[in-house]
Amino acid sequence: MTHAHEVVLCQNNDAASRLGRPCDTSGAASLAVAPPGPQAALKAPPSPGPVEDRAMKVRVRGLDFFYGSHQALFDNNIDIVEKAVTAIIGPSGCGKSTHIRAYNRVFELYREQRAAGEIMIDGENILDRCTDLLSLRRRVGMIF
Ligand SMILES: Nc1ncnc2c1ncn2[C@@H]1O[C@H](COP(=O)(O)OP(=O)(O)OP(=O)(O)O)[C@@H](O)[C@H]1O
Ligand SMILES: [Mg+2]
Repeated sequence: MTHAHEVVLCQNNDAASRLGRPCDTSGAASLAVAPPGPQAALKAPPSPGPVEDRAMKVRVRGLDFFYGSHQALFDNNIDIVEKAVTAIIGPSGCGKSTHIRAYNRVFELYREQRAAGEIMIDGENILDRCTDLLSLRRRVGMIF
């Protein structure tokens, strides 16, 4: 007889709770896969603790973004804590992708695109001219 792998998905609802939705207090965002077998024990990873006690991972202040003469972002401000899933929600064309793309300066591949303001990641303003782009893009990836 073969045993199916048991899969437990623990969802972290910090982002949802900040949007006023019910929060699952398990606090873990992980996929735990148990080895096959009836005796397999599932162990959840340790909870990262309450969201208000966690360090700030990203702090954006006064972010403006321009596609040539077209300004797509106006004075964006956001705080993102570590070890949490954060969703950015809004209507099509409001600038979600433009905002996220700024976090690893991938827009600089296009000469007419420009960002202004502050994007602090782990306490460093990644829009600073001195930022090492190779090291930044090793730390900040994205999937579209
Ligand atoms: N390459 C580009 N050149 C010029 N303007 C652009 C470019 N990409 C996006 N824009 C403009 O910037 C604004 C924000 O677009 P963006 O794609 O960031 O929105 P979005 O919220 O991600 O939309 P969606 O939900 O459809 O993915 C829109 O007005 C869009 O037309
Ligand atoms: Mg988009």
